[in-house]
Amino acid sequence: MGCGIPGVSLLPPMQDATAVKPWDSRSPNAPVTVRGIIRGRALEEQAGLDMNMTMIEQELPLNDDVFERFRVLVYRECGINLTDQKRTLFSCRLQQRLKQLGLKSFQDYYDLVVGGSDDAELTNMLDYISTNQTEFFREPHHFTFLRERVLPELTIDKTVRIWSTACSSGEEPYSIAMTLSDSIAFSSTWNCRVLASDISTRMLAKAAAGQYSHARTNSLPPDLVRRHFLLGRGNQTDLVKVKPHIVNMVVFRRINLMDDRYPIKSLLDAIFCRNVMIYFDRETQAAVLARLSRYLKPGGYLFIGHAETMLGISDSFHYVAPTIYRKHD
Ligand SMILES: C[S@@+](CC[C@H](N)C(=O)[O-])C[C@H]1O[C@@H](n2cnc3c(N)ncnc32)[C@H](O)[C@@H]1O
Repeated sequence: MGCGIPGVSLLPPMQDATAVKPWDSRSPNAPVTVRGIIRGRALEEQAGLDMNMTMIEQELPLNDDVFERFRVLVYRECGINLTDQKRTLFSCRLQQRLKQLGLKSFQDYYDLVVGGSDDAELTNMLDYISTNQTEFFREPHHFTFLRERVLPELTIDKTVRIWSTACSSGEEPYSIAMTLSDSIAFSSTWNCRVLASDISTRMLAKAAAGQYSHARTNSLPPDLVRRHFLLGRGNQTDLVKVKPHIVNMVVFRRINLMDDRYPIKSLLDAIFCRNVMIYFDRETQAAVLARLSRYLKPGGYLFIGHAETMLGISDSFHYVAPTIYRKHD
């Protein structure tokens, strides 16, 4: 295995999976990890709510002017289009953050977000409002296509570079890595790397930990679970952990799709940009797709989400199969 996508600057030290202690209840690392997961899961559930849901009684009012300021800020920073229908949910999600910070109004929070010396609170806010729903092998035909159509085209170079652009808690890049690992074409002589990125540092931390509730693997074939997951023991039987041979294939990094350029120097064989463009308006979708196409090899593949479309948005790609496109040669 190589040690990274050439030209891609890697995240500062990811956990070296080869150094991971046997994962059982006696591991001294375990309690910390489990606490982290539980906290992460609670936050994930809170952030994973569908944007159309309305809940929790509002406490601090969010007036029109201030909402408009947030709307402009969120659109500029992460491309998410906060329509009026999403206003209640936006307000509900941030009530808790305002309370934590002891703030008295949304205007105070806005001032904090834009006035900070770094982007820390802006990043926190984006974490609160983004939707992180995902699952292992979501939209399974993409992984079949990857195995049957994409990999056989790469047998000469035996090098695979794939980018999961909005990886959320990591199920998508790990599913890609498992597909590579299980592919008939794959062997230890291949050099495979999956770059996994997201705007949310909280999601990236969860993804890099590679630990999930056991229930998240329930729909997977048992032999796949055996090959690629460690099962928790003792009081951790409700948890699984992705095995090191898969974790080691994936590099995590924070990348905002709204950035003018991405920190990737060598061209990719495939890009997964799934279930994120749906939050962008058409103008932003077009700009993101134009940028993504610059990082794909000619003939490289783009996978999008089931509710997303390329129709009238980009002419850099042609249709290959439902939600799968190819960059023109
Ligand atoms: C619904 S999840 C999609 C996860 C995965 N791709 C899938 O299809 O299952 C959307 C993800 O997009 C991320 N996201 C939102 N805006 C983003 C941006 N501007 N740049 C990068 N990631 C973004 C969110 O943090 C969230 O984790």
